[in-house]
Amino acid sequence: MKTEQIAEIYKRFVMPTYLRNGIVAEKGAGSTLWDIEGKRYLDFFPGWGVSSLGYCPKPVARAVEKQIKKLIHISNSYMHEPQALLAKALIESSFDGKVFFSNSGAEAVEGAIKLARKWGHPHRYEILTMQRSFHGRTLGALAATGQPKYQEGFQPLPAGFRTVPFNDLEAAIKAVTPQTVAILLEPIQGEGGINVATPQFLKGLRDLCDQRKLLLIFDEIQSGFGRTGRLFAYQHFNIVPDVMLLAKAIAGGLPMGAIVAKRAIADTLTPGTHAATFGGSPLVCAAASSVLETVRQPKFLNQVQRRGEQLMHRLELLKQKHSIIQEVRGKGLMIGVELTQAGAPIVERCRNRGLLINCTQEKILRLLPALTVSNTEIQKALRILDAALT
Ligand SMILES: Cc1ncc(COP(=O)(O)O)c(C=O)c1O
Repeated sequence: MKTEQIAEIYKRFVMPTYLRNGIVAEKGAGSTLWDIEGKRYLDFFPGWGVSSLGYCPKPVARAVEKQIKKLIHISNSYMHEPQALLAKALIESSFDGKVFFSNSGAEAVEGAIKLARKWGHPHRYEILTMQRSFHGRTLGALAATGQPKYQEGFQPLPAGFRTVPFNDLEAAIKAVTPQTVAILLEPIQGEGGINVATPQFLKGLRDLCDQRKLLLIFDEIQSGFGRTGRLFAYQHFNIVPDVMLLAKAIAGGLPMGAIVAKRAIADTLTPGTHAATFGGSPLVCAAASSVLETVRQPKFLNQVQRRGEQLMHRLELLKQKHSIIQEVRGKGLMIGVELTQAGAPIVERCRNRGLLINCTQEKILRLLPALTVSNTEIQKALRILDAALT
């Protein structure tokens, strides 16, 4: 079929919830995506942060191929080895506790809200969240999201959320009430514009949570799984959250979310209080184990750090050349380039030249390349971005 024919079918039969970029994707390998017309793109935003091992990563393909012949799905009335092994590996790679498996990021956020409320029941239920945060589109996650533009038209939202400015410890301390049960935040805000938390802020929140017996919940749905050059972003900051939320890159492109909770609180959600029909199926768990096995290797993470430094350094050079670039920020391969003007035309010019990137918050170019991106690909992307900015 041709691009126009497929676009026409979308127009008639698919709800218009997404701004499409006009590309009809056909296949991908590593950081390269091909459309159905045979045009090739270098993708520096593959899968909105999902395809962190690139398109169709071999370890995932192998794990899926093997598992798909044995058992694709089984209800959570049963136990199975892929879920057991993945939960154990996740805990061994983070902090001592237990895992709940869901299917998406928003679903992990919803589960964490329920966990916090059940833990604080009956007196405490309020959750502090951050301005400019993004936690997903379901009603609870939307209520937690500190951006009114996403909430517009969906009121009434669930009550019990209060937003405070990001990186403002005093504001967080002041906002705690006797009803507060948890603080939920992304250690590095993704959709909000790649805003990195300061170490003092996170340390201060950790102390605040300890003093006031609150749960510190980190949404690492975008920042986790090697994205920042550590397996999880919290590991840069010398503190440990009580609950960590994962999704996106966790299963190499298959849908999965996860709640990791410290052992002392991990039995809060008892049988009958929470569930997900598809959560932690053998197929998706096998895929996720193959991703974790790849990503947690120190050699792999060191490489992500190096690539991140290379990319950041070259972007800093571009900043010296183009006054439209106001700031370059981020960690590892989670990078934002703040512009002085709208980023959409730059994204379009890059796309026309074969480079795919994202723009968030109108003026911030967001780069989340595959963690397997090569130096040559970084050079090529920067040449295209340079031309698009000129
Ligand atoms: C930090 C963060 N939390 C939650 C979500 C929601 O995840 P999902 O789209 O899988 O529901 C996202 C998605 O972009 C995210 O970036």
